[in-house]
Amino acid sequence: MSLTAEPFGALPDGSPVIRHTLSRTGGLTLRVLTYGGIVQSLEVPDARARVTNVVLGFASLDGYLKASDAYFGGLVGRFADRLAGGRFTLDDKSYAVDVNAAGSCLHGGTTGFDKRLWRAEPSGDHELRLSLISADRDQGFPGRLHVEVTYCLLESGVRIDYKATTEAPTVINLTNHSYFNLAGEGSGSVENHTLVIDADEYTPVGRDLIPTGEIALVAGTPLDLRRETAVGARLRDPHPQLLAARGYDHNYVLQGTGMRRCARLTDPASGRVLEVFTDQPGVQLYSGNSLDGSHVGTGGHAYRQGDGVALETQHLPDSPNHPAFPSTVLRPGKLFSSTTTWQFNTN
Ligand code: BGC
Repeated sequence: MSLTAEPFGALPDGSPVIRHTLSRTGGLTLRVLTYGGIVQSLEVPDARARVTNVVLGFASLDGYLKASDAYFGGLVGRFADRLAGGRFTLDDKSYAVDVNAAGSCLHGGTTGFDKRLWRAEPSGDHELRLSLISADRDQGFPGRLHVEVTYCLLESGVRIDYKATTEAPTVINLTNHSYFNLAGEGSGSVENHTLVIDADEYTPVGRDLIPTGEIALVAGTPLDLRRETAVGARLRDPHPQLLAARGYDHNYVLQGTGMRRCARLTDPASGRVLEVFTDQPGVQLYSGNSLDGSHVGTGGHAYRQGDGVALETQHLPDSPNHPAFPSTVLRPGKLFSSTTTWQFNTN
């Protein structure tokens, strides 16, 4: 087991970015950047112990800076997914936050946590603790927020622990935006991967992918992934929800509480399996619908639609504007805490 650090370029203002590598002999290797807390690569063995990087990303910092609207591997905050109109009301006060996507606030605004330099502290030889302070009114959000995210390399997986406290009432929704391709980054489409999402319900979206507020059953729709289904099997289904998003870009509502499995992704060719566990109430399935061939990834191949899937564990999108959704309010004196685990196996 080892944890090492090396330079990974500098931001336009000259600030150096560091890449930390967490590695287990004969097991996984995880590379994380202090910029955005980005998972830059994650090497996972297959059934024959052949190791491949299973996350999309870039070989240099420049790649991340140019592809900033696709959130490759980054830590997303303060508020993952969309806030309609960039507005919400909290304790009878209305707030206007940064509008960066079709009239709404996406993934925390223009300079969200995925575009910030995090402070990194290795803890032992298999944990990396990242922290940042988000100022009061950062991207318009109220309350000075202290955020800590720990990546822990497990025997055959990665655990991500998110913690936050605030100095004034605010809203919070944190996730990681890694795109997975279990056949290997840059190997083409994941349409042949199979997927299970352990959810009976989802939050349908209307115009500009804003949740309508309804919690609908997946049964009878192409979004029903309770049984193993090829990722590509329904991508071209003319269901209005799939047309609206140009593929999967939907939040599933998870039953129960506490750590439970929410998704299982399998690459039949390599036998690699990823199971995602979370204590969050939702998971966003995003089939990389806006990857259009304009970004050249780590191994030198351009990324196109469907070359990876993101499984973003989160609170329900636009929650502050839907009182019936589980609350995303964080108050002073309270700790926001959540955990997501990516567990890898082979078939
Ligand atoms: C969202 C998409 C968005 C994408 C950007 C996803 O989490 O659900 O709507 O286009 O992030 O990479």
